[in-house]
Amino acid sequence: MLVPIDPRPIPGVMPLGRPIEWLDPQVTEIDTRSLPFGGPSLKSVLHSRRSNRAFSEASTEEVASVVREALRTEFVGVDTKFGRKLKGVVSAGALHPVKGVLLDRDGNPIFYDDVDDRFLSVGIRDVRQLEGFLNDCREVLPEAQGRWIALIADCRDLSRLYTNHQSLLWRDAGAAIQVMAMVAEALELAFCPIGILGHGLIDALLPGGGGFAAVGVVAIGRLGSIRNPTEAGRRDY
Ligand SMILES: Cc1cc2nc3c(=O)[nH]c(=O)nc-3n(C[C@H](O)[C@H](O)[C@H](O)COP(=O)(O)O)c2cc1C
Repeated sequence: MLVPIDPRPIPGVMPLGRPIEWLDPQVTEIDTRSLPFGGPSLKSVLHSRRSNRAFSEASTEEVASVVREALRTEFVGVDTKFGRKLKGVVSAGALHPVKGVLLDRDGNPIFYDDVDDRFLSVGIRDVRQLEGFLNDCREVLPEAQGRWIALIADCRDLSRLYTNHQSLLWRDAGAAIQVMAMVAEALELAFCPIGILGHGLIDALLPGGGGFAAVGVVAIGRLGSIRNPTEAGRRDY
């Protein structure tokens, strides 16, 4: 049986908040304001949310709305709180290592920059790795005419600040996925986490050298005619 060792904060170590070395990042305007966020109550979201596996294609604005509403930062720490953030999502040490990369209709990656609340279109370092990632996603959920969001964790500060940091990372990723699921429900969009981690996207987009972990992929789409086809098309979960 796996018995993870408790993480412990390492006294006196401060976050460095190093930027991520994307290839040729370009700010891209995506209008996420028009979606009806805030309609249903939290109670109704909790009661009605289900994973949906058969859905039609969502727009980039819809997918980006889920990412933004779930991962946006309410407060960015300064001085002694540098490198910490406060969000709707919980995170160990307020480090929020989990980032979202959505794929546009042509499979081009768009990173949500949670420090500056903007979307960056980023260059592809290895096209074959990106194709492999997209194929892996389609293989798990071929019914999803949806769009993919990869969750990538920047572990560089987390691993400096904690001994045995790994379990913190996985718990943070789970929290981010749950909040995204609830935001998608509130926006009346279909949502399904998939079991693959999405390693290929890291290899496709980031320089080698480590410090990053693929922590999950989710599919987002428009709801089909069946509201909650929980049993329809389920595989590999
Ligand atoms: C980490 C994780 C991985 C999952 N992987 C898959 C998957 O690969 N395929 C799938 O159809 N559903 C997947 N799911 C969705 C679960 O099957 C689903 O959440 C569960 O059956 C409960 O149903 P509900 O979300 O409709 O309440 C995954 C869920 C989680 C949290």
